Amino acid sequence: MCWIFAYNWKEDSIPFLVDWLKKLEYRWYDSAWVFWVNKNGEIYLEKAIWKVSNLASKVEHNKDKKKVFTCWIAHTRWATHGKVTLENTHPHHSQNDRFFVVHNWIIENYMTLKEDLEKKYNFYSQTDTEVIAKLIEKLFDGDIISTISKVTKKLVWAYSIAVIDKENPDVLIGAKLWSPMVIWVWEDAIFLSSDINALWKVASEFTTLDDNETVVIKNWKYNVYSLWEKINKETEEITPDLWLADKWKFETFTEKEINEVPQVLKNALKWRINFETRTITNETLEELNSLDIKHIEIIASGSSYYAWVVWKNWFEELSWLKTEVRVSSEFLYEKFIPNKKTLYIFMSQSWETADVRESIRMVKEKWCLTFGIVNVVWSTIARMCDMWLYTHSWIEIWVASTKNVVAQLAVLLLMSLSMWLKRDLQVSEAKNIIEKLWELDSKLEWLIEKHNHYKNLADKYSKYNNFFYLWRNLVYGTACECSLKIKELSYVHAESYSTWELKHGPLALVWPNFPCIVINPKSIMREKTISNIKEIKARDWLVLWVITSGDTVKDIYDDIIEIPKSHPILTPFLPLIPLWLFAVEVAKNLNRDIDKPQNLAKSVTVE
Ligand code: AGP
Ligand code: GLU
Repeated sequence: MCWIFAYNWKEDSIPFLVDWLKKLEYRWYDSAWVFWVNKNGEIYLEKAIWKVSNLASKVEHNKDKKKVFTCWIAHTRWATHGKVTLENTHPHHSQNDRFFVVHNWIIENYMTLKEDLEKKYNFYSQTDTEVIAKLIEKLFDGDIISTISKVTKKLVWAYSIAVIDKENPDVLIGAKLWSPMVIWVWEDAIFLSSDINALWKVASEFTTLDDNETVVIKNWKYNVYSLWEKINKETEEITPDLWLADKWKFETFTEKEINEVPQVLKNALKWRINFETRTITNETLEELNSLDIKHIEIIASGSSYYAWVVWKNWFEELSWLKTEVRVSSEFLYEKFIPNKKTLYIFMSQSWETADVRESIRMVKEKWCLTFGIVNVVWSTIARMCDMWLYTHSWIEIWVASTKNVVAQLAVLLLMSLSMWLKRDLQVSEAKNIIEKLWELDSKLEWLIEKHNHYKNLADKYSKYNNFFYLWRNLVYGTACECSLKIKELSYVHAESYSTWELKHGPLALVWPNFPCIVINPKSIMREKTISNIKEIKARDWLVLWVITSGDTVKDIYDDIIEIPKSHPILTPFLPLIPLWLFAVEVAKNLNRDIDKPQNLAKSVTVE
């Protein structure tokens, strides 16, 4: 994933720059470049697609490399807007060729800004970043600090940027919103990095740039500004704990991604909900609400499909619109009866799942309306659909989908609420849900903190080869998702069933060696499910009961997992973290390769 490394240093540091890029090669990226400027404003730029090694050999052969420069920037880009081409690779520059910008993350309102800027400037790339360079030129008032602050006020999240003005080549400027940026002073050099890991083992302290602050680095000194005002910043020590707070703290990357869930939830909601007025503010959803849609068909695979299953329950409950959920592989080969009043929605984390891609093609051939929910901006699926929303959970690298499922659920819930509010059905109740949504990330944190409990349970349950994940109603999709996760991670057989359906056949499997994980929150058919649990216990099955905190009933369970109280509509989010971590711990006990389960790939790009 993208990474900015920029500094102000008088020494010749080309090899250092490239080595630094190599150090962070574990990150997901698709192009890399280096850029430096000397005191006369002459620049040197080298770009390469894909590997840093491609860039290293280009730099190696550059004859200018012995010159003395003032500012240096290295960047690995992970394309979000625009293909992986040299043209889209950063830095992007203003039309007058004076300002150069490198940027991480996404400018969500770039289309609106670009439309306006196009009246005056020609754009050469497909990136959102180029908008920032053109805006700097447009708003430049002679003072780069005040200009950057005017520019950043116009950007709707999120960015870390570094800017160079060729006419002041000894000045390096950094700013950020939401995306990280740290400052590090080393001897007579000042460094800016969008990832603290870049400083691993070399730095002993650093300064964090906070949102809406600008750092100006000049003559090997730096000043931080909040708007126009110079402010003092504390330096933080780098303790071993800080490195532990990164991926190194976790035994597996999958656990790291599960631990990112609360943050990912916030990302998915940020800028789309106004928590003060408890309203939803999103242009795409508004446009969607203005369409005359009578029916919705939703198409996806795997975990994305299960997120849809949750959505179907939410959506029909909240919007009163008939909804059908289809597995993409089957949808492709079933009879397709196109309907112009149907909205076909597609969802994919990995952005390239073949079944989903082909299903979109089939629907588009019949000129029906398509809507995509994707994680990666400018991905194939987003480009193919007529309308789309992003989940903003950032790249999910490891095979099992976790944090992205939560981001998908957040976006889907927003969609349901927005349609609900549009129809003016129980507005106060919708607002109540929005209020509770605000507190959801802290509930997810609370669940993560109980990791040890899930580990202890896993130690007890790892000896079993089969599991039932039982559900009723709103937690159907959640149970299916958790049952998929234990299959993927531990290679143990698991099935998901409605507790009510057990008596129609699966009860024949009754056997003490077949534990049942029953998801039974207080607000969802609690009493009926308790009757079913009693039937299970009467046959000596083991029951791991997932309940709302404090809601125990004597003698009907062997173990419990508590989930916090919340609005019933939000319940599907809550069992995910405990049951994912439980699956991880079972897999660890069975010595499985958790991050890369056998036979599976992250992106299923073939049918
Ligand atoms: C989830 O843990 C799986 N690895 C898999 O089921 C995945 O969700 C499925 O392949 C769909 O992927 P997508 O969301 O990238 O389209
Ligand atoms: N959105 C920018 C682009 O597509 C930045 C991507 C990144 O974070 O690397 O170029």
